Amino acid sequence: MASITELDVNGTRRRIDADGDRSLLSVLRDDLDLTGTKFGCGEGQCAACTVLVDGQPMKSCITKVASVAARRIVTIEGLAPAGKLTDGLTPADVSSPTTGSFPYLGLPYSGFDNPS
Ligand code: FES
Repeated sequence: MASITELDVNGTRRRIDADGDRSLLSVLRDDLDLTGTKFGCGEGQCAACTVLVDGQPMKSCITKVASVAARRIVTIEGLAPAGKLTDGLTPADVSSPTTGSFPYLGLPYSGFDNPS
């Protein structure tokens, strides 16, 4: 598949060079160093890897990066004050523009539990 060279992540156009068949999760974590998005089951079952794509929750482990190349992606870092996850950040500190909070999305666990 063709390379993807740009993504709109957390309100910023980011330059990348990724095979379009790669998972969005691997590009976010490995290429863009946005490690707040977690790997859990890798099969679309646990929701640890959920991000917002055009305001809708999407499991990034089963999403090919080519399918979201022209869409707005928001990770947990994009919801955090100043775009940074810090120790002591609680779900109450972060609110989603669409749901009011990430836990509301029904995540059993998320970057809030382990921000590294
Ligand atoms: S890692 Fe479990 S749904 Fe993506």
